[in-house]
Amino acid sequence: MIMSRVQVAELFEAASAGGYAIPHFNHSDFWDMSAIAEAAQESKAPIFIACLPKVIDAIGIEKLGAVGKITMEQSKTPIIYHLDHCHNADICFAAIDNGYNSVMIDASHSSLKENIETVKKVVQYAHARGVHVEAEIGQIKSAGDEGNTVISGKATADDARVLVKETGVDALAVAFGSEHGFYTHKPELDFELLRQVRQVVPVPLVLHGGTGIPEEDVRRAIDNGIRKVNVGTHIRCTYIGAVKQAIEEMGTQTHTADIMAFAKDQVKTVVKQWIKTCRADGKS
Ligand code: 13P
Repeated sequence: MIMSRVQVAELFEAASAGGYAIPHFNHSDFWDMSAIAEAAQESKAPIFIACLPKVIDAIGIEKLGAVGKITMEQSKTPIIYHLDHCHNADICFAAIDNGYNSVMIDASHSSLKENIETVKKVVQYAHARGVHVEAEIGQIKSAGDEGNTVISGKATADDARVLVKETGVDALAVAFGSEHGFYTHKPELDFELLRQVRQVVPVPLVLHGGTGIPEEDVRRAIDNGIRKVNVGTHIRCTYIGAVKQAIEEMGTQTHTADIMAFAKDQVKTVVKQWIKTCRADGKS
């Protein structure tokens, strides 16, 4: 089923009532996308499957939108197909026109005023088409493709409140100490800041940079109001590592489908672990 913005909001309400977060997994191609979707169904968990604009550049928005649509339609558990960390409103519009039912407009690198203006534009276009929108406040450090900052800049609760109030955005990624990619030090999440933001922001809060955050900290973040947990690097590195291992063990003449079956199994195991960490399987 393809979920409208209202249905996505209902999913978040259920997560809030149940004390869990909806896991979000970044994919790179059709093999890992199907691994993620299968793992979600086997765990009976609602999830977001997301791609970065880099993946759109590599594969094409029409193909991704079409496969995302079929994946959502065929799934027995709710899947939301999401565009992650898009810095360009026009690409958000194109994603919406090609069947994505959620987009993240990330203008967190600009001033609060510019961030609000950009988010407003996307919200207006998306809401008229029943599509869910996420924005970001503060700067979540990234050495990769997620952002364009190599320094962390924590959000303030007041900026978060103003951005949500002025834009009508549906979900908010908050910079409270997490980073994209592997950590070079122990992650230090600012739970006090998260609590302050939760008190003044009525929409679901999103934890970015899931890779490398210890399970107890992810759980503590969920207990303090996080309703979506984004994981990218852990999925991608598991996938690439598994393909490498399969080729080493089976040889280059092995059929691609057999190599990928091996890789998919490993990706599924990691996805299922994260679903449990988020308590999204209803049992953890
Ligand atoms: P990681 O790659 O650190 O897991 O972060 C992913 C993310 O936040 C995508 O939005």
